[in-house]
Amino acid sequence: MQTIFSGIQPSGTITLGNYIGAMKQFVELQDDYNCHFCIVDQHAITVPQDRLALRKNIRSLAALYIAVGIDSTKSTLFIQSEVPAHTEAGWMLQCVAYIGELERMTQFKDKSSGKEAVSAGLLTYPPLMAADILLYKTDLVPVGEDQKQHLELTRDLAERFNKKYNDIFTIPEVRIPKVGARVMSLQEPTKKMSKSDPNQKAFITILDEPKVIEKKIKSAVTDSEGIVRFDKENKPGISNLMSIYSILGNVSIEEIERMYDGKGYGDFKAATAKVVVEALAPIQQRYYELIDSEELDQILDAGAEKANFVANKMLRKMRNAMGLGRKR
Ligand code: TYM
Repeated sequence: MQTIFSGIQPSGTITLGNYIGAMKQFVELQDDYNCHFCIVDQHAITVPQDRLALRKNIRSLAALYIAVGIDSTKSTLFIQSEVPAHTEAGWMLQCVAYIGELERMTQFKDKSSGKEAVSAGLLTYPPLMAADILLYKTDLVPVGEDQKQHLELTRDLAERFNKKYNDIFTIPEVRIPKVGARVMSLQEPTKKMSKSDPNQKAFITILDEPKVIEKKIKSAVTDSEGIVRFDKENKPGISNLMSIYSILGNVSIEEIERMYDGKGYGDFKAATAKVVVEALAPIQQRYYELIDSEELDQILDAGAEKANFVANKMLRKMRNAMGLGRKR
Protein backbone atom coordinates (compact mmCIF):
# COMPACT_ATOMS: atom_id res chain seq x y z
CA MET A 1 0.00 0.00 0.00
CA GLN A 2 1.34 3.45 -0.88
CA THR A 3 1.64 6.14 1.77
CA ILE A 4 -0.09 9.50 1.93
CA PHE A 5 0.71 12.51 4.09
CA SER A 6 -1.09 15.82 4.26
CA GLY A 7 -1.52 18.62 6.75
CA ILE A 8 -3.73 21.58 7.54
CA GLN A 9 -2.87 24.58 9.68
CA PRO A 10 -5.08 25.19 12.73
CA SER A 11 -5.08 28.91 12.10
CA GLY A 12 -8.77 29.73 12.19
CA THR A 13 -11.91 27.97 11.13
CA ILE A 14 -11.57 25.69 8.16
CA THR A 15 -13.05 27.09 4.96
CA LEU A 16 -14.93 25.52 2.11
CA GLY A 17 -11.64 25.87 0.18
CA ASN A 18 -9.79 23.64 2.67
CA TYR A 19 -12.65 21.17 2.59
CA ILE A 20 -13.01 20.95 -1.18
CA GLY A 21 -9.32 21.28 -2.05
CA ALA A 22 -7.97 19.00 0.65
CA MET A 23 -10.19 17.24 3.18
CA LYS A 24 -12.67 15.83 0.71
CA GLN A 25 -9.83 14.18 -1.18
CA PHE A 26 -8.44 12.75 2.07
CA VAL A 27 -11.68 10.95 2.79
CA GLU A 28 -11.81 9.51 -0.73
CA LEU A 29 -8.21 8.28 -0.53
CA GLN A 30 -8.12 6.68 2.90
CA ASP A 31 -9.42 3.29 1.76
CA ASP A 32 -6.64 2.79 -0.74
CA TYR A 33 -3.61 4.31 0.97
CA ASN A 34 -1.76 4.22 4.26
CA CYS A 35 -2.76 7.76 5.30
CA HIS A 36 -1.29 10.26 7.76
CA PHE A 37 -3.18 13.46 8.41
CA CYS A 38 -1.65 16.15 10.53
CA ILE A 39 -2.70 19.27 12.39
CA VAL A 40 0.36 21.39 11.68
CA ASP A 41 0.44 23.64 14.73
CA GLN A 42 4.18 24.36 14.40
CA HIS A 43 3.46 25.86 10.99
CA ALA A 44 0.67 27.97 12.45
CA ILE A 45 3.06 29.78 14.81
CA THR A 46 5.10 31.16 11.91
CA VAL A 47 2.62 34.05 12.12
CA PRO A 48 1.36 35.57 15.40
CA GLN A 49 -1.29 33.47 17.18
CA ASP A 50 -3.30 33.98 20.33
CA ARG A 51 -2.41 31.01 22.54
CA LEU A 52 -5.92 30.24 23.74
CA ALA A 53 -7.37 30.59 20.27
CA LEU A 54 -4.65 28.34 18.84
CA ARG A 55 -5.39 25.58 21.37
CA LYS A 56 -9.05 25.84 20.52
CA ASN A 57 -8.38 25.73 16.79
CA ILE A 58 -6.15 22.67 17.13
CA ARG A 59 -8.92 20.73 18.84
CA SER A 60 -11.51 22.06 16.46
CA LEU A 61 -9.50 20.95 13.42
CA ALA A 62 -9.02 17.50 14.94
CA ALA A 63 -12.79 17.19 15.40
CA LEU A 64 -13.37 18.39 11.85
CA TYR A 65 -11.04 15.80 10.37
CA ILE A 66 -13.16 13.11 12.01
CA ALA A 67 -16.43 14.88 11.24
CA VAL A 68 -15.72 15.03 7.49
CA GLY A 69 -15.10 11.30 7.50
CA ILE A 70 -11.49 10.55 8.42
CA ASP A 71 -11.64 7.12 10.01
CA SER A 72 -9.04 6.73 12.76
CA THR A 73 -8.98 2.96 12.27
CA LYS A 74 -7.73 3.51 8.73
CA SER A 75 -5.77 6.76 8.96
CA THR A 76 -3.31 8.16 11.48
CA LEU A 77 -4.49 11.55 12.75
CA PHE A 78 -2.11 13.54 14.94
CA ILE A 79 -0.87 16.93 16.10
CA GLN A 80 2.52 17.94 14.67
CA SER A 81 3.93 19.31 17.96
CA GLU A 82 3.20 15.97 19.66
CA VAL A 83 5.70 14.32 17.31
CA PRO A 84 8.99 16.18 17.97
CA ALA A 85 10.77 14.37 15.13
CA HIS A 86 9.14 16.88 12.77
CA THR A 87 11.00 19.89 14.13
CA GLU A 88 14.29 18.02 14.41
CA ALA A 89 14.03 16.74 10.84
CA GLY A 90 12.89 20.22 9.84
CA TRP A 91 16.10 21.67 11.24
CA MET A 92 18.23 19.18 9.32
CA LEU A 93 16.39 20.02 6.12
CA GLN A 94 16.86 23.75 6.79
CA CYS A 95 20.54 22.99 6.64
CA VAL A 96 20.02 21.42 3.22
CA ALA A 97 17.83 24.26 1.88
CA TYR A 98 19.24 27.48 0.41
CA ILE A 99 18.03 30.89 1.56
CA GLY A 100 17.51 31.94 -2.06
CA GLU A 101 15.05 29.17 -2.82
CA LEU A 102 13.11 29.86 0.38
CA GLU A 103 12.88 33.56 -0.45
CA ARG A 104 11.41 32.66 -3.84
CA MET A 105 8.38 30.85 -2.36
CA THR A 106 5.22 32.75 -3.28
CA GLN A 107 3.59 31.98 0.09
CA PHE A 108 6.56 33.60 1.85
CA LYS A 109 6.42 36.61 -0.46
CA ASP A 110 2.64 37.01 0.04
CA LYS A 111 2.71 36.58 3.81
CA SER A 112 5.75 38.78 4.38
CA SER A 113 5.00 41.60 1.96
CA GLY A 114 4.32 44.91 3.64
CA LYS A 115 4.98 43.47 7.13
CA GLU A 116 7.44 45.16 9.42
CA ALA A 117 8.36 42.11 11.48
CA VAL A 118 8.51 38.75 9.74
CA SER A 119 9.49 35.68 11.74
CA ALA A 120 12.42 33.55 10.59
CA GLY A 121 9.98 30.64 10.83
CA LEU A 122 7.93 32.04 7.98
CA LEU A 123 11.00 31.74 5.76
CA THR A 124 11.94 28.26 6.98
CA TYR A 125 8.36 27.01 6.79
CA PRO A 126 8.94 24.82 3.69
CA PRO A 127 11.77 22.67 5.12
CA LEU A 128 9.47 21.86 8.07
CA MET A 129 6.76 20.93 5.60
CA ALA A 130 9.29 18.77 3.75
CA ALA A 131 10.14 17.07 7.05
CA ASP A 132 6.45 16.33 7.67
CA ILE A 133 6.23 14.58 4.34
CA LEU A 134 9.60 12.84 4.13
CA LEU A 135 9.53 11.31 7.63
CA TYR A 136 6.73 8.96 6.56
CA LYS A 137 8.24 7.76 3.24
CA THR A 138 5.31 9.47 1.60
CA ASP A 139 4.44 8.57 -1.98
CA LEU A 140 1.57 10.99 -2.50
CA VAL A 141 0.62 14.38 -1.03
CA PRO A 142 -2.98 15.49 -1.68
CA VAL A 143 -3.21 19.29 -1.49
CA GLY A 144 -4.85 22.28 -3.14
CA GLU A 145 -3.05 24.10 -5.93
CA ASP A 146 -1.48 26.75 -3.67
CA GLN A 147 0.82 24.11 -2.15
CA LYS A 148 2.31 22.95 -5.45
CA GLN A 149 5.44 25.07 -5.14
CA HIS A 150 6.12 23.78 -1.62
CA LEU A 151 5.84 20.25 -2.94
CA GLU A 152 8.34 20.95 -5.70
CA LEU A 153 10.77 22.25 -3.09
CA THR A 154 10.17 19.16 -0.93
CA ARG A 155 11.15 16.98 -3.88
CA ASP A 156 14.26 19.08 -4.51
CA LEU A 157 15.33 18.87 -0.86
CA ALA A 158 14.76 15.10 -0.78
CA GLU A 159 16.79 14.60 -3.94
CA ARG A 160 19.57 16.86 -2.69
CA PHE A 161 19.71 15.02 0.65
CA ASN A 162 19.71 11.60 -1.04
CA LYS A 163 22.57 12.62 -3.28
CA LYS A 164 24.64 14.42 -0.65
CA TYR A 165 24.21 12.05 2.31
CA ASN A 166 22.44 8.77 1.73
CA ASP A 167 19.58 7.60 -0.43
CA ILE A 168 16.95 7.35 2.33
CA PHE A 169 14.02 9.47 1.18
CA THR A 170 11.12 8.50 -1.07
CA ILE A 171 10.47 11.29 -3.60
CA PRO A 172 6.82 12.27 -3.13
CA GLU A 173 4.32 13.12 -5.86
CA VAL A 174 1.76 15.89 -5.51
CA ARG A 175 -1.95 15.16 -6.03
CA ILE A 176 -4.14 18.12 -6.92
CA PRO A 177 -7.88 17.59 -7.55
CA LYS A 178 -9.14 18.21 -11.10
CA VAL A 179 -12.02 20.39 -9.94
CA GLY A 180 -11.89 22.50 -6.79
CA ALA A 181 -8.10 22.76 -6.49
CA ARG A 182 -8.55 26.49 -6.05
CA VAL A 183 -11.82 27.63 -4.53
CA MET A 184 -12.01 31.38 -4.99
CA SER A 185 -13.03 34.24 -2.71
CA LEU A 186 -16.75 35.04 -2.90
CA GLN A 187 -15.95 38.75 -2.92
CA GLU A 188 -12.89 38.87 -5.19
CA PRO A 189 -13.21 35.73 -7.32
CA THR A 190 -9.77 36.14 -8.85
CA LYS A 191 -8.20 35.56 -5.40
CA LYS A 192 -8.23 32.23 -3.56
CA MET A 193 -10.68 31.74 -0.70
CA SER A 194 -8.66 32.17 2.48
CA LYS A 195 -9.48 31.96 6.17
CA SER A 196 -7.22 34.92 6.82
CA ASP A 197 -9.25 37.22 4.55
CA PRO A 198 -10.30 40.26 6.59
CA ASN A 199 -13.63 40.32 4.74
CA GLN A 200 -15.80 37.64 6.40
CA LYS A 201 -18.12 37.59 3.40
CA ALA A 202 -15.28 36.32 1.20
CA PHE A 203 -15.25 32.82 2.67
CA ILE A 204 -17.59 30.16 3.99
CA THR A 205 -16.40 28.11 6.93
CA ILE A 206 -17.37 24.49 7.48
CA LEU A 207 -19.15 25.54 10.66
CA ASP A 208 -21.15 28.46 9.24
CA GLU A 209 -24.86 28.28 9.99
CA PRO A 210 -27.35 27.89 7.11
CA LYS A 211 -28.50 31.53 7.32
CA VAL A 212 -24.93 32.77 7.16
CA ILE A 213 -24.14 30.54 4.18
CA GLU A 214 -27.25 31.77 2.33
CA LYS A 215 -26.30 35.39 2.99
CA LYS A 216 -22.69 34.97 1.89
CA ILE A 217 -23.63 33.21 -1.34
CA LYS A 218 -26.37 35.72 -2.06
CA SER A 219 -23.87 38.54 -1.81
CA ALA A 220 -21.18 36.72 -3.82
CA VAL A 221 -19.74 38.88 -6.58
CA THR A 222 -20.80 37.74 -10.07
CA ASP A 223 -21.14 39.61 -13.39
CA SER A 224 -23.80 41.39 -15.39
CA GLU A 225 -24.31 38.83 -18.16
CA GLY A 226 -27.06 36.98 -16.30
CA ILE A 227 -26.29 33.58 -17.87
CA VAL A 228 -25.17 30.59 -15.77
CA ARG A 229 -22.22 29.60 -17.91
CA PHE A 230 -18.78 28.27 -16.95
CA ASP A 231 -16.02 30.61 -18.06
CA LYS A 232 -13.24 31.05 -15.49
CA GLU A 233 -11.55 33.88 -17.38
CA ASN A 234 -14.52 36.14 -17.99
CA LYS A 235 -16.97 34.91 -15.33
CA PRO A 236 -14.80 33.95 -12.34
CA GLY A 237 -17.55 34.52 -9.74
CA ILE A 238 -20.22 32.40 -11.41
CA SER A 239 -17.67 29.75 -12.39
CA ASN A 240 -16.49 29.51 -8.78
CA LEU A 241 -20.05 28.99 -7.53
CA MET A 242 -20.61 26.42 -10.27
CA SER A 243 -17.51 24.48 -9.18
CA ILE A 244 -18.69 24.50 -5.57
CA TYR A 245 -22.16 23.35 -6.64
CA SER A 246 -20.70 20.66 -8.90
CA ILE A 247 -18.42 19.15 -6.27
CA LEU A 248 -20.75 19.30 -3.28
CA GLY A 249 -23.90 18.46 -5.23
CA ASN A 250 -22.25 15.77 -7.36
CA VAL A 251 -23.57 17.30 -10.59
CA SER A 252 -21.44 18.01 -13.65
CA ILE A 253 -20.78 21.56 -14.81
CA GLU A 254 -22.64 20.83 -18.10
CA GLU A 255 -25.64 19.57 -16.15
CA ILE A 256 -25.69 22.78 -14.09
CA GLU A 257 -25.58 24.85 -17.28
CA ARG A 258 -28.58 22.89 -18.59
CA MET A 259 -30.49 23.10 -15.30
CA TYR A 260 -30.15 26.90 -15.09
CA ASP A 261 -30.55 27.67 -18.78
CA GLY A 262 -32.87 30.66 -19.00
CA LYS A 263 -32.90 31.20 -15.23
CA GLY A 264 -31.30 34.09 -13.40
CA TYR A 265 -28.49 34.27 -10.86
CA GLY A 266 -30.98 34.54 -7.99
CA ASP A 267 -32.33 31.02 -8.53
CA PHE A 268 -28.87 29.62 -9.13
CA LYS A 269 -27.43 31.22 -5.99
CA ALA A 270 -30.32 29.97 -3.83
CA ALA A 271 -29.80 26.44 -5.17
CA THR A 272 -26.02 26.67 -4.60
CA ALA A 273 -26.61 27.75 -0.99
CA LYS A 274 -28.95 24.79 -0.50
CA VAL A 275 -26.35 22.36 -1.85
CA VAL A 276 -23.68 23.81 0.48
CA VAL A 277 -25.96 23.77 3.54
CA GLU A 278 -26.97 20.16 2.86
CA ALA A 279 -23.38 19.03 2.35
CA LEU A 280 -22.22 20.66 5.59
CA ALA A 281 -25.15 19.69 7.85
CA PRO A 282 -23.99 16.12 8.69
CA ILE A 283 -20.40 17.34 9.17
CA GLN A 284 -21.53 20.02 11.60
CA GLN A 285 -23.68 17.58 13.55
CA ARG A 286 -20.82 15.11 13.99
CA TYR A 287 -18.45 17.95 14.87
CA TYR A 288 -20.58 19.08 17.82
CA GLU A 289 -20.86 15.52 19.10
CA LEU A 290 -17.08 15.15 19.02
CA ILE A 291 -15.64 18.46 20.09
CA ASP A 292 -15.77 17.87 23.87
CA SER A 293 -15.57 14.09 23.76
CA GLU A 294 -12.95 11.84 25.27
CA GLU A 295 -13.07 9.85 22.05
CA LEU A 296 -11.29 12.71 20.32
CA ASP A 297 -8.43 12.68 22.85
CA GLN A 298 -8.10 8.93 22.51
CA ILE A 299 -7.85 9.22 18.72
CA LEU A 300 -5.18 11.91 19.00
CA ASP A 301 -3.20 9.98 21.64
CA ALA A 302 -3.19 6.85 19.51
CA GLY A 303 -2.32 8.88 16.41
CA ALA A 304 0.64 10.55 18.12
CA GLU A 305 1.94 7.20 19.33
CA LYS A 306 1.79 5.66 15.86
CA ALA A 307 3.29 8.73 14.19
CA ASN A 308 6.13 8.97 16.74
CA PHE A 309 7.04 5.37 16.07
CA VAL A 310 7.24 5.79 12.29
CA ALA A 311 8.84 9.24 12.33
CA ASN A 312 11.54 8.31 14.85
CA LYS A 313 12.75 5.49 12.64
CA MET A 314 13.35 7.86 9.73
CA LEU A 315 14.81 10.48 12.06
CA ARG A 316 17.46 7.99 13.20
CA LYS A 317 18.34 7.34 9.55
CA MET A 318 18.63 11.07 8.94
CA ARG A 319 20.92 11.60 11.95
CA ASN A 320 23.07 8.71 10.80
CA ALA A 321 23.23 9.93 7.23
CA MET A 322 24.35 13.39 8.37
CA GLY A 323 26.76 12.08 11.01
CA LEU A 324 25.04 13.60 14.02
CA GLY A 325 25.59 12.27 17.55
CA ARG A 326 27.61 9.19 18.43
CA LYS A 327 27.97 5.92 16.62
CA ARG A 328 26.02 3.15 18.38
P1 TYM B 1 -3.37 25.31 4.64
O1 TYM B 1 -3.66 25.08 6.08
O2 TYM B 1 -3.23 26.69 4.14
O3 TYM B 1 -4.49 24.62 3.77
C1 TYM B 1 -4.85 23.26 3.96
C2 TYM B 1 -5.18 22.61 2.63
O4 TYM B 1 -6.28 23.30 2.02
C3 TYM B 1 -5.93 23.67 0.69
N1 TYM B 1 -6.59 24.95 0.38
C4 TYM B 1 -7.37 25.15 -0.68
N2 TYM B 1 -7.77 24.35 -1.68
C5 TYM B 1 -8.59 24.85 -2.62
N3 TYM B 1 -9.03 26.15 -2.61
C6 TYM B 1 -8.65 27.00 -1.63
N4 TYM B 1 -9.11 28.24 -1.62
C7 TYM B 1 -7.79 26.52 -0.61
N5 TYM B 1 -7.24 27.07 0.50
C8 TYM B 1 -6.50 26.11 1.09
C9 TYM B 1 -4.41 23.78 0.70
O5 TYM B 1 -3.87 23.65 -0.59
C10 TYM B 1 -4.02 22.65 1.62
O6 TYM B 1 -3.99 21.43 0.91
N6 TYM B 1 1.48 24.30 4.08
C11 TYM B 1 0.19 23.69 4.22
C12 TYM B 1 0.07 22.79 5.41
C13 TYM B 1 1.10 21.70 5.48
C14 TYM B 1 1.16 20.56 4.65
C15 TYM B 1 2.25 19.79 5.14
C16 TYM B 1 0.40 20.12 3.58
C17 TYM B 1 2.11 21.61 6.37
N7 TYM B 1 2.82 20.45 6.18
C18 TYM B 1 2.60 18.59 4.54
C19 TYM B 1 0.77 18.91 2.98
C20 TYM B 1 1.85 18.15 3.45
C21 TYM B 1 -0.84 24.81 4.37
O7 TYM B 1 -0.55 25.90 4.75
O8 TYM B 1 -2.11 24.43 4.17
